[in-house]
Amino acid sequence: MSGFAHVAIDGPAGSGKTTVARALARRTGTLYLDTGAMYRAVALLVLRAGADAASEAAVVALARARPVRVELDQSSPLGFRISAGDQQLGDELYQNDVSRLASVIAAHPGVRELMVERQRAIARSGPIVMAGRDIGTVVLPDAPVKVFLTASLAERVARRRADLAERGTAVDTAALCAELEERDRLDASRAVAPLRPAPDAHTIDSSGLTVAEVVERIVALMEAGAAT
Ligand code: DC
Repeated sequence: MSGFAHVAIDGPAGSGKTTVARALARRTGTLYLDTGAMYRAVALLVLRAGADAASEAAVVALARARPVRVELDQSSPLGFRISAGDQQLGDELYQNDVSRLASVIAAHPGVRELMVERQRAIARSGPIVMAGRDIGTVVLPDAPVKVFLTASLAERVARRRADLAERGTAVDTAALCAELEERDRLDASRAVAPLRPAPDAHTIDSSGLTVAEVVERIVALMEAGAAT
């Protein structure tokens, strides 16, 4: 299923994977998808419908009734266009309440099944850099290049804070730290597709590295893979 230029980038919240994935896609002229946005879109649906996020059946019914669709387009603000049902979605996907709910709904196997099916269909369309939590382990297990991106908690908190500030939301550092730890816990402890590196993933600690430096390390891995 995975062709030559499929790159899987997984890692915890705030590790910089979406920024790196997008920059890498630009650098290598491939497509890019942040799969977290798809789970966020389902979380937003749940929030807007006032549905019970803990009920797998309710969340799956919503996700089936208002399918999440993605169109890859590097020139759009997110690097892809995303909609749920007939609603185009954007910055609202990155609000804090959506982040919180996304970890809850992402633990439902039925939700993951729907998302993974779509992500694999997208990957079949050609070379792509895909960022998420389970890309190397579940979505594209045959991807020739897999990266597990980490960063210290302090750095991840600082990055999230800067991200949110850019979107006009001020948050308390201690609260953000507790929230990231809780999301890590939920993402890593769920029964289905928990956050963990694939056995053949290269772990890169991005603390203290610039985006460009991380991108170059991944390009080197791609070139090394192509040479063997
Ligand atoms: O990367 P992010 O913070 O935008 O992801 C939002 C949530 O979606 C996060 O709590 C974990 C979940 N997620 C997932 O379970 N699997 C993925 N491939 C991507 C994200």
